[in-house]
Amino acid sequence: MERLAVCPGTFDPVTLGHLDIITRAAALFDRVIVLVSVNVDKRPSFSAEERADLIKAVTKNLKNVEVEIMDGLLAEYVKEKKACAIVKGLRATTDFEYEFQMALANRKLYADAETVFLVTKSENMYLSSSMVRQIASFGGDISSFVPEEIVERISAGLLEGK
Ligand code: COA
Repeated sequence: MERLAVCPGTFDPVTLGHLDIITRAAALFDRVIVLVSVNVDKRPSFSAEERADLIKAVTKNLKNVEVEIMDGLLAEYVKEKKACAIVKGLRATTDFEYEFQMALANRKLYADAETVFLVTKSENMYLSSSMVRQIASFGGDISSFVPEEIVERISAGLLEGK
């Protein structure tokens, strides 16, 4: 049976940290869906379609990776797709409690999928989408934080939004 994993997140915008996790998930599972999802506590700078497009641009060489957008419950989506895993990147201890809570809630809602945490590369330990947004909105250089092919689009989008 095909082993499908879902990588959910806000991806506002996708960073080298996310790409590392997606690439490693693609090596572990038969198929991976990167799912642009809604975190009710966040007000994204990029539209869901723009975020999905940016992810598609940086994952085009990963043949078993697809990108989708969802505004519902993650557990329902995972169940409907019959995915066996939810893959998340774990950075510092600060991520742990929040991720632990979400993993437990998702298991209560749908017990047949495991949340799998991949430990982030040390160079991405302190990287976040909000840091990228902040640097780019002041015209700073984000090329060490996001894949090269989307640097311009992100910088232009965030400078415009100011
Ligand atoms: N490297 C670098 N940064 C990383 C990273 C990595 N490997 N993994 C995560 N991050 C960063 C992200 O960029 C993000 O940064 P930001 O806060 O500055 O924007 C931050 O860590 C948190 O990312 P993530 O863990 O993906 O959380 P999220 O808030 O983006 O996404 C959802 C959370 C969308 C997955 C969650 O809210 C959800 O499942 N929503 C659907 C609705 C639902 O089912 N809700 C109930 C859940 S129990």
